[in-house]
Amino acid sequence: MKNILSRKIALVAAMFALAGAVKVAAQDVSTRFPLVPYPQKLTTSTGLFVINAQTVITTPAGRYRQEADLLNELLHNKLTVKTGGAASAKNVIQFIEDATITADEGYRLQITPQKIVVKAKTGAGMFRAVETIRQLLPADIENKQQTLPSQLSLQALNIEDAPVYAWRGMHLDVSRHFFSIAYLKKFIDLLALYKFNKFHLHLTDDQGWRIEIKKYPKLTEEGAWRTFNNQDSVCMKKSVDNPDFVIDTKHIIHKNGKTLYGGFYTQAQMKDVVAYATARHIDIIPEIDMPGHMMAAINSYPFLTCNGENSWGKLFTKPICPCNETTFEFAQNVFDEIMAIFPSKYIHIGGDEVDRTDWGKSEVCKAFMQKEGIKDLAGLQSYFINRMEKYFNSKGRKLIGWDEVLEGGISPTALVMYWRVWVPKAPVEAAKNGNQVIMSPGNPLYFDTPPDRNSVDNVYHFNPIPKGLTDKEAKGIIGAQANLWTEYIPSENRADYMYMPRMTALAENLWSRDHNYDSYQVRLNSQYERLGNLNVNYRLPDFDGLVEQSVFIDKTVLDLKKPLPNTTIHYTTDGSVPTIKSPELTAPLTISKTSYIRLAAFKANGIAGDLYNLHYTQQALAEPTAKADVKNGLLCSYYPGEYKSSTLMASAQPKESFVVDSLNVPKAVTAPSFGLRYQGYFNVPQDGIYSFYLTCDDGGILKVAGHTTVDNDGWHAPIEKSGQVALKKGLQPVELSFVEGGGGYTLKLKYSVNGSPLQTVPANWLKH
Ligand code: ACM
Repeated sequence: MKNILSRKIALVAAMFALAGAVKVAAQDVSTRFPLVPYPQKLTTSTGLFVINAQTVITTPAGRYRQEADLLNELLHNKLTVKTGGAASAKNVIQFIEDATITADEGYRLQITPQKIVVKAKTGAGMFRAVETIRQLLPADIENKQQTLPSQLSLQALNIEDAPVYAWRGMHLDVSRHFFSIAYLKKFIDLLALYKFNKFHLHLTDDQGWRIEIKKYPKLTEEGAWRTFNNQDSVCMKKSVDNPDFVIDTKHIIHKNGKTLYGGFYTQAQMKDVVAYATARHIDIIPEIDMPGHMMAAINSYPFLTCNGENSWGKLFTKPICPCNETTFEFAQNVFDEIMAIFPSKYIHIGGDEVDRTDWGKSEVCKAFMQKEGIKDLAGLQSYFINRMEKYFNSKGRKLIGWDEVLEGGISPTALVMYWRVWVPKAPVEAAKNGNQVIMSPGNPLYFDTPPDRNSVDNVYHFNPIPKGLTDKEAKGIIGAQANLWTEYIPSENRADYMYMPRMTALAENLWSRDHNYDSYQVRLNSQYERLGNLNVNYRLPDFDGLVEQSVFIDKTVLDLKKPLPNTTIHYTTDGSVPTIKSPELTAPLTISKTSYIRLAAFKANGIAGDLYNLHYTQQALAEPTAKADVKNGLLCSYYPGEYKSSTLMASAQPKESFVVDSLNVPKAVTAPSFGLRYQGYFNVPQDGIYSFYLTCDDGGILKVAGHTTVDNDGWHAPIEKSGQVALKKGLQPVELSFVEGGGGYTLKLKYSVNGSPLQTVPANWLKH
């Protein structure tokens, strides 16, 4: 993935193919309870506890009232909450303080036919238990329009629970596109449901300043509003096929004859959101991104730059000037107001993607660096960050910065948030330096990259601990978070779609000790009804067994299972985008001529899932080559340099060629940007229709037997694309081109033949 460019380029909707078959023993206890994240320990018992109108929630005097009230709210406020006094022996949900529970967010939950006992030391532990009870209750309770059943029963059980990681976060960028207060609360409620404890709010950026600062009113009077930009144009284009890309009209105004997009939160509104999150034991970490990403502020306060210029540099906008006292005065005044709104121990200063060119040209900076003994521009950025850190510390707060803050040296007391996958040593160096580290690598934790059938799996299996740390150093990795950058997320529905369900995989990854993906998938399926009741526009599960470029010899059959109950599948054959009024796919469809089928699943509310574009081509089995004197491996040619498309290598000269025995990026390849061309034969073991699944970050094209089998070209985030080719047993010519823009280094090729399970292309197929 090539830094922000990838974020901007990675627009292509991801799609397709075989969803992993779910294999969990039917009797597996973990699948009997729809809990995500799954608790550390759960044992079942016999009988049921019945909640009815007479059930009482009790809390000790002065403790846990807020958590008890929130449980009651989940039950439509139908129960009585009593504080202090003795609890009755039955029909009670009893909250008890237990000082022996040492984990910050730990709790014990015992459900018997007589009572529910919830024990915790902290309010946070008690609240996490409330959310466990919530997930044990029927999904219908989430629908506040529906009356609560007069009786609700819960299976008797015992749970002991505590999280593995202390930092379990989600991020939302409200600058590139703006999100309402109601949406922030909905987001927080989902964080609570899945036991997240950190909400990182990216409040300012080049495209908009979103929080009222009383001392600098123009930050929001002017900086919160903009005319439509090129990111909006992309959204508008995409909205023709997908209504989730329609720019939210709530945030469009007409002023002085201009149409403006934007909005901001008043301090009072934000304090209310903070209180909402605090009640749910979620910290909101505000990010005011500086010294870069400050265009919206500089527009109104040009004194912030070294030279008064406010424009885009080569990749990023020009930053504020760390060589003027007035900059620090501004920054400190802003953060004073931010700290008064946000009680979080952590304040995020950004520090990413700074174009330092103008600092280097500034006479003021040259003199300043000489005076302070600062040797280079990275050091100058460090001066800014370190000075701000001291300021934060003087107010009892800790500074967080994106991993660029390491470049000129950072104090070990700051926290580092890792994102640049192309700098794998950054989190290792930070942890060795003694910094606490939060992992949010672009792959797989930038949830603004288009989801495909592998995204949930990738997030579930992501290991937050990078290679190269001792066990002691690894303690510095305090957790992880996923980020939702919103350049191309202009609506609440689109935001929901991008993070749900993969955020549930992150929740379990970070909370639970034992991970069982098959069990998780079963439990995830049982979450969708609840999410539907919460009006979450989650992404539907992928169809089983679809490839984008299908081939058949005489005929083939398109046979699909609905991704979820209460969905319908609609398709077209004339190239148009299917709507809920298009023909419904209710039975297998026989295809015996070259066809183009477009289809989507629709939820009961009429919202379409991913659009699948399926090309069917008639093909004869390709004859193998008769060549006899082949050697093992494929020939791989290496083209250092920036190739934005795999096709561009054809007219270039490789730097070197070597033989490889697998289809990965060879270790010897070190350039940040390059192309690779693998050539030779696949020695395929039988006649059949071969499906190939090519995952690239950035891009690639696979040609087999002269057919372009998978086209996954161009620079983008890791996306899998698939295609088929009809092959006779033997040596079949193959060419695989791959391009890397910087940072992704992901190349995976899997196959299946005649519908067999997916496998990696083995070394003994590769010949040249
Ligand atoms: C980032 O994505 N620029 C932190």
